[in-house]
Order: sequence, then structure tokens, then C-alpha cells
Amino acid sequence: MAQWQGTTDLADFSDCDLVIEAVFESLPVKHDLFSKLDKLCAPHTIFASNTSTISITEIAGGSGRPDRFVGMHFCLPAQLMKLVEMSPGMATSDETFAAAWAVCEALGQKPVKTQDTPGFVLNYFLIPFNNDAIRLVEQGVATPADIDLAIKTAMGYAMGPMELLDLVGMDTQKLLCEAMYGITNEPRAACPPLVKRMIAANRLGKKSGRGFHDYADSKMYGA
Ligand SMILES: NC(=O)c1ccc[n+]([C@@H]2O[C@H](COP(=O)([O-])OP(=O)(O)OC[C@H]3O[C@@H](n4cnc5c(N)ncnc54)[C@H](O)[C@@H]3O)[C@@H](O)[C@H]2O)c1
Repeated sequence: MAQWQGTTDLADFSDCDLVIEAVFESLPVKHDLFSKLDKLCAPHTIFASNTSTISITEIAGGSGRPDRFVGMHFCLPAQLMKLVEMSPGMATSDETFAAAWAVCEALGQKPVKTQDTPGFVLNYFLIPFNNDAIRLVEQGVATPADIDLAIKTAMGYAMGPMELLDLVGMDTQKLLCEAMYGITNEPRAACPPLVKRMIAANRLGKKSGRGFHDYADSKMYGA
């Protein structure tokens, strides 16, 4: 399976059956990438987006092949989590959806079909839940470490909400909140002010070396 390391490697994708995109959560950035890929990939190549919040139909509209486009939302940490939320856009053909579904199963993942809507199934529950945990930190109810310990101990989760948020990234959490609040008007989905302050302070989470926890020696990449 080819893995993109930068624009100079784009030509390596000419023979792929499926390209799964996971670039920055911005419609213009995704459109720019897919318009380049459309010129480089074979006509049969299916395009998939890992977007959490942007409409699959809208991304597909700028891809040059909306009928061969599908949403494939992997969950963090993607190397461990089996769930993939799969959503067809308005123009996705049945053949495309079935082929992408088969690839997902062949990878050993567990696909579920969802509508083309921000947050799909998992984030509908997780965003308000994680925001509740952030508000507990804001209110000084408990430290991030103790909130993680309480949730993991009581609920059997492998990761606590603050650890997960550090993996997600505060910048991404803000986008998730804006998208979910935009469609639900659920107050618990609104972005907590602490997230915005953490972004301003470059405490994005694991990718910047510090979020709710400290990762000074284990940055994922410079941010
Ligand atoms: N973080 C999560 O919890 C999570 C979970 C599931 C899906 N997603 C989705 O995955 C995608 C990426 O999210 P993320 O949190 O990893 O974002 P991110 O901003 O942390 O990283 C995105 C990657 O895109 C690259 N990038 C930035 N600008 C680019 C450009 N102009 N062209 C090409 N690449 C560019 C960056 O170098 C980086 O490697 C988004 O669509 C997001 O919704 C994120």
C-alpha cells in the first residue's frame, strides 16, 4: 500500500485501487489534493476521505469523481481501533461503496454505515462527553490525570478522555465542536473556552508536546 510522504510522491499513486485521504480538516486543502490526485490516478481508483466533520458530498464535489468517492472515518488510535464509519455521498455509486466496504473488511476493520453528517455515530456521543471532562478541568474539580484514572477505572476504557483529547488535538477538537454544535445546538457540544486558550498557548496535545498531559520527549511531529 502506497503512503504519501509529500507532494513529490503523488505520482506513486497512479496505480492504486483506493486512496484514503487524511490531511488537515479544511475543504479547500482537501479539494486541492483531490484535484491533483484525480489527474494522477487511474479512472477506476476510488477516493476516500477520513474527514470527521466535512460533508462527504462537498469534498466529493471537488474531486473530479463524485461517483467514486466515499467517507471512511477511522477512529483514534487508528492502529488499535477497529471501527470505521463509512458514509456514501449523494453521488456515490453502489459499486464504489461496496468495493470500499470490502477493502475495509479485508484490512480487518469493522465498518458501519452512517449518513453523511458531521460526527457520524461515535463523535455524536464522544464530543459532549469529552467536553464535559474539559469543563471538569476548567472548574478545578479534578486534575486531568485523576479524571483519566476515574474514567478508566470505573468504565473500563483503555484511554481516559484527557489522554484521548491529547491524541485528537485541541485544534481538531475545536473543529469537531463547531461542526457538532452547528448541527445540534447541543450546549454540551459547544467548544469549551479552555480549548481555545490551549490552542493559543500551543498546547495542542501530543503533536505539540503538551496538552492536558506532558509529552516533552514523545512529540508526534513538530507543531
Ligand atoms: N484527530 C482526530 O481525532 C481524527 C480522528 C479521525 C479522523 N480525523 C480526520 O483526519 C484528518 C486529519 O486530521 P488530524 O487531526 O490528523 O489533522 P492535523 O491537522 O493534525 O494533521 C493533518 C496532516 O495534514 C497535513 N497537511 C496540512 N496541510 C496540508 C496540505 N495543505 N496539504 C497536505 N497535507 C497537509 C499535515 O502535515 C498533517 O500531517 C481530518 O480530516 C480529520 O477530521 C481526525
